[in-house]
Amino acid sequence: MPAAAIHKLTGSQHVAPYLSDYDAACRAFTWESARAQLAGLPGGGLNMGYEALDRQVAAGRGACVAARFIDRQWRHSDLTYADLLESCSRFGNLLQSLGVARGECVATLLGRSPELFTVVLGTVRAGRVCSSLFFAFGPEPLKTRLQLGRARVLVTSDELYRRKVAPIRAALPDLQHVLLVREANAGELPAGTADLAQLLGASGAQCAPAPTRDAEVALLHFTSGTTGKPKGVTLTHAAVIAQHATAKLVLDLHPQETYWCTADPGWVTGIAYGVIGPLTRGARMIIDREEFEPQRWYRILAEERVNVWYTAPTAIRMLMKAGTALARARSYPELRLMLSVGEPLNAEAVLWGTEVFGIPFHDTWWQTESGAIMIANFYACDVLPGAMGRAIPGVEIRVVRRGAGGRLEVIESPEEVGEIALRPGWPSMFSAYLGDEQRYRAAFIDGWYLAGDLARRDRAGYFWFVGRADDVIKSAGHLISPFEIESCLMSHAAVAQVGVIGVPDPIAGQAVKAFVELKDGVAQSEELRRSLMAHARRLLGAAVAPREIAFSAALPRTRSGKIMRRLLRARELGLPEGDLSTLEAGT
Ligand code: WT7
Repeated sequence: MPAAAIHKLTGSQHVAPYLSDYDAACRAFTWESARAQLAGLPGGGLNMGYEALDRQVAAGRGACVAARFIDRQWRHSDLTYADLLESCSRFGNLLQSLGVARGECVATLLGRSPELFTVVLGTVRAGRVCSSLFFAFGPEPLKTRLQLGRARVLVTSDELYRRKVAPIRAALPDLQHVLLVREANAGELPAGTADLAQLLGASGAQCAPAPTRDAEVALLHFTSGTTGKPKGVTLTHAAVIAQHATAKLVLDLHPQETYWCTADPGWVTGIAYGVIGPLTRGARMIIDREEFEPQRWYRILAEERVNVWYTAPTAIRMLMKAGTALARARSYPELRLMLSVGEPLNAEAVLWGTEVFGIPFHDTWWQTESGAIMIANFYACDVLPGAMGRAIPGVEIRVVRRGAGGRLEVIESPEEVGEIALRPGWPSMFSAYLGDEQRYRAAFIDGWYLAGDLARRDRAGYFWFVGRADDVIKSAGHLISPFEIESCLMSHAAVAQVGVIGVPDPIAGQAVKAFVELKDGVAQSEELRRSLMAHARRLLGAAVAPREIAFSAALPRTRSGKIMRRLLRARELGLPEGDLSTLEAGT
C-alpha cells in the first residue's frame, strides 16, 4: 500500500515556483522557447561555458558569489562569477598555447575544488571536450577511460598523480600534458608534469568563447555497462538547454539562491547540477570539499542557509541512521526544497524528510545518457512517496514491452511492468557512445530510446521504479560494471572464473559480491581471499572493489561458457532459479 500523497504548497512559500501547474507547463513548453531563454553566442551557436559565466557577468552578476568552498577546517573561500570567468579565460588561453585542438579531450581527476570549476568550464568554453573522472578510481579503470577518451591533458593533484597515474602513464601515448594542482609544500614537480597555477598565471586573462555549435560535443562522461569496456557518453553544448530548463523547473533555482549539490564531480550529476545547470541560473553554490559526515552536513544546511539541496539516497539513508536527534539539533528555516537522484529512494526516506525538515525529499530520475533530469517530483506538485515522479515538460516518457513480432508496444496498464522508454528529441540526449556506433544504435528501437530500467507508470503519469533490466550494479549511487570487476579478478594468477553480482545492502542499496572459481590445484584459503581482495582494491580502487569475495567450486555457466549472473543472484538471495535450459550440467 503506497504512502499517501504529500500535498505541497499548503504553507507560506519563500518564492513563487517556476512550475506550479504541471499540465499547463507541459502544454506550454517547447524546446525552442527553452533555448530562447539562454543567450546563445553573439555570432550564433551555443556554448555551455558562455551561458554559465559570460551571460551572468553581462547580466550584472559579476560580483555575485558563484561558488563558496568549505574546507575541512571550516574555512570558506568564495569565487564570484567574474573570478570564474577570468580563470576560465586563462585556462582557454593555456589550452591554446599547449596546442590542444578544438574537440580534443581534457580530463580531470580532482575533488570538489576551485580548479575543477576552472578546468571544466574553461575547457567547454574553449570548445574542447571535458571528461571529469572519479577520484576514487584505481589505475585500471582510469587507464581504460583515459585511453577511450584519448585525453590530451589531465589535471590532477600530486598525490593522485603519484598513486594512480604515474604507474599507467606509459600506456597513455595520447596524454601529452599533466597539470598539477599543487599543495603549498608539495616539493619538486614530478617528471613529465607542470604546475597548473603557474601556467594560469602566465596566461592572458581575456579569451573569447569558442564559436561552438549546438551539436558540438562538450562533455564526455563514463558510465558502466554489463559487458566490455565502460561506455563513453558524449553530451553536446545543447545539453545546457535541458540542464538550464530543469535547474529552473525541477530544482526551482532562483538567481542568487543558495544551492548545495552533494554529488561527486566524477559523475554526471556533479557536472550537470554541481557546475553547469546552477550557474546558468545565477545560483550561489555551496561546495563542501570534505566527504560525507552527518554533523558537518547539518551544519552546512543550517549555517550556510541552504535553500535548495540536491543529494542521493545513500546519503539520506546514512543521515537517517545517524538519528533524528542529530538532525533536530539545528533548524533550517531557509531550506525549501530537497531532492534526490541516482538510486531508488524509499518511501520511508521521503517521509523522514517530512518528519525532520518539514518537507519531503523529491525524487528525480535520469541517466548519464539523458544528460539532464527526465522524471521528477516537482516542487509545487504532490509528492508520491516511493514514486520517481513525472516526465519533465518537453519529453515523452512511457513504459514499453516487446510485443508480438518484437515491436515495442506502449503499456497503458498501471499494473504492468515494462522498460522505461524516452522519445528522442530532447537537447541533452547523448550524441554517441564514444567509438561504439553499434552500441549507440542498439539503444534506440522503433523510435524510442530504451533506458535499461524497469518501471510501472500509474494513471496520473507517475513512474515507479522496479529494477534494472540488466546486470549492472548500483552501489552508493555509482553504476558498477560486473564485467570490469570480473576482468580485474581474472588477472590474478589463482583465478579461473569469476561472477560478480550486486547483493542488497541497507545503506548503499547494493554491495558488490564476487564469486571466484580457482584454478585446478589451487587451494581455497583465507590468505588467498585476502590477496584477491587486495589485488582488486589496488587496481580498481576501494569504491569499486568487491565488498565480499566467496569461493565457488563451479560457477553456474551456460553451455556456451557465459557465467550466469542471474542464477548466482537467485541462489544467493534464495529467489526462483527460473529458466535453466541453457545451464551447463554440473555448474
Ligand atoms: C541509473 C543511471 C543521472 C543521475 C546519476 C546516475 C538509476 C537514477 C534513479 C531513481 C531509481 C535511479 C537508474 C538509472 N537511477 N535515478 N530516482 N530511482 N533508480 O546516472 O550513473 O548514468 O545511472 O541510475 O538505474 O538508469 P547513471
